[in-house]
Amino acid sequence: MELFDVDVFEVMVVAVWAMLPAYVPNNIAVLTGGGAPIDGGRTWNGRRLLGNGKTWRGTIAGIAAGAVLAWGLNAVRQGVTDALNVSLPAFPIAVVLAMPAGAMLGDMAASFLKRRTGRARGASFPGVDQLDFVVMALLFTSLSAPEWTLDTFTLPVLTVVVLVTPLLHLITNVIAYVLGLKNEPW
Ligand code: CTP
Ligand code: MG
Repeated sequence: MELFDVDVFEVMVVAVWAMLPAYVPNNIAVLTGGGAPIDGGRTWNGRRLLGNGKTWRGTIAGIAAGAVLAWGLNAVRQGVTDALNVSLPAFPIAVVLAMPAGAMLGDMAASFLKRRTGRARGASFPGVDQLDFVVMALLFTSLSAPEWTLDTFTLPVLTVVVLVTPLLHLITNVIAYVLGLKNEPW
């Protein structure tokens, strides 16, 4: 399907492919989280800095998983490119780490904002919950590999990322909730 000269299938595949190292860290953090919170229990104006939902274990495992995934995607890139007949970007080494790290930091920044606005751990913050990690992952990525980011995240790809991410986020969180891995479906 073509829309304004854009191959919609190709754009969607590239968008999901390029964002995978940012999508996976949060889900791995849900599976591995627990133990010491990053803020060490510290508070600011009587409210937790980040809260018990942001742990060292979940954060480190999430970043590591995202990096390993990006590495793995590089390894299978040619095969997937041939199979789908879509030209997929390889992840530069700087992006392999920057993208998952940015995603986790974005999630953390959202928790910081939630606590400042009086939201308890697990409270929803529509909009922020769905896109926090996208914004920070892309910021980190653009700082570590500016040209690669501009080449990969073209306007059509960015548009798909912003539209599709909240949907993927909702679907994975509802699945995690139904499986009993997560306390809330957001
Ligand atoms: N998690 C973690 N470390 C992170 C992010 C998530 O350990 N950096 C784990 C925690 O066990 C957390 C769960 O994944 O409870 C769900 O993540 P999330 O929804 O981001 O946290 P919430 O518990 O909802 O807390 P918040 O309100 O701060 O988002
Ligand atoms: Mg939550």
